[in-house]
Amino acid sequence: MTKIISREKPKIAFVGLGAMGIGMAIHLLEDGFPVSGFDVNPMALERLLAMGGTAASNPRECAQDASFFICMVANSTQIEQALFAESTGAIFGLKNDAIVILCSTVSPGFPQEVLSQVHNRFSRPDIQIIDSPVSGGTIRATQGTLTIMSSGPENILKISQPILQSLGEALYSIEGGLGSANKVKLINQHLAGIHIAVAAEIMGLVATMGLNTQQLYQMVLNSPAHSWMFENRVPHMLSNDWSPHSALGIFIKDMRIVTSEGLSRSFPLYVASAAEQLYRFAALSGYEKEDDAGIVRIFIPHNLSLVSAAAQQQSHADDQPKYDLISHMLEIIHGVTAVEALALAIKLDLSIKSLAPIISNAAGTSRSFETVASRMMGKDSTNMRTLVQSRNILAKAMILAQAYNYPLQITATTLQLLQQALVHGLGDEDHTSLLALWSP
Ligand SMILES: *[C@@H]1O[C@H](CO)[C@@H](O)[C@H](O)[C@H]1NC(C)=O
Ligand SMILES: *[C@@H]1O[C@H](CO)[C@@H](O)[C@H](O)[C@H]1NC(C)=O
Repeated sequence: MTKIISREKPKIAFVGLGAMGIGMAIHLLEDGFPVSGFDVNPMALERLLAMGGTAASNPRECAQDASFFICMVANSTQIEQALFAESTGAIFGLKNDAIVILCSTVSPGFPQEVLSQVHNRFSRPDIQIIDSPVSGGTIRATQGTLTIMSSGPENILKISQPILQSLGEALYSIEGGLGSANKVKLINQHLAGIHIAVAAEIMGLVATMGLNTQQLYQMVLNSPAHSWMFENRVPHMLSNDWSPHSALGIFIKDMRIVTSEGLSRSFPLYVASAAEQLYRFAALSGYEKEDDAGIVRIFIPHNLSLVSAAAQQQSHADDQPKYDLISHMLEIIHGVTAVEALALAIKLDLSIKSLAPIISNAAGTSRSFETVASRMMGKDSTNMRTLVQSRNILAKAMILAQAYNYPLQITATTLQLLQQALVHGLGDEDHTSLLALWSP
């Protein structure tokens, strides 16, 4: 198929044609933008060529004559490589007043570091940067329907609008200057990363207890225990499908970004740290390049297909209380996770009022998040369990799992956090009062 490329649209340089990047670049071509691409993988460049783009041999060549330089590489090291590598870095090829759009998920402080290198070390004050982390996965990248958060100078955000509109459907402009969009992304990843890990912990438990994993899945979908990630990832667990829709290695990187932010601010992130360690166990077990749902295998090392096999498990009516307990446990963990995420958001100077609707439309959402966020904004009047009730449910689940010699890492961490709250004299309040543990 030949694409008619409009001469009026500005040329875009696109570096990082991985699973998401190639879809985004092709979508820009389909919208009539001339795209020059670079990637270390020659197959990706061939795909771009076949769709009417041009292929460059390095980022510097790629940047030539481009008004926008989009960077969709995997991490901050690769961004520095793409921009600043001796003789091949884009910085040596960017034309005057070019705009750099950083789409990778990075530490919130990193885009500002890049800007100061561009302005000071390379004496290019004409170049401006926005950070625009994306969310939504490979399919939505190809359709141009990503969720995109952007921050940076207002006039530069405005000039970049046509590009962002081509790539995304839900566009959010985040106040607070360069790097703020990555603060929002960080909160989303905190939630999303924990939700996958706890989904795995729970599904492993259900299978180990000899319950029906498919039944628990269906039950959770229409319950307050629902999370976007649970709905999206558990089907991979139920079918032993570890083809990398989203590679586990991404969450090794993203949970590290989350916990580093906590470490650098001496801000405790109990649940996120527990989840990060689980991802590390999974990487040690060799699952890093496969789908992140494959983390479930660390809980069932003696039989790696136990969760999918248990989808056929016969169900007994008198098991219902066990399903209920597990579903409540998931809901409570999501609730505590939401408080931890929102406590971090407040620490990062994000407004809960602007953050909550973005998360609600992104992969980090859960029913408990919605409830906790509305309560924090003083909106929701629905009853939530007290901390004591939640503590008792998790304690019961722990004791049950012990009978099966099953490890509950995230559950245990959440339970200890609730007990810490009781030590602090809390108990009859709902989950939002846990905020006091972070800001007395
Ligand atoms: C980025 O990924 C590369 C592998 O492509 C790795 O060598 C490097 O350590 C990573 N950097 C960060 C900050 O994660
Ligand atoms: C794993 O567990 C399932 C369900 O109990 C069983 O059917 C299957 O044979 C087991 N596989 C192995 C390798 O033990």
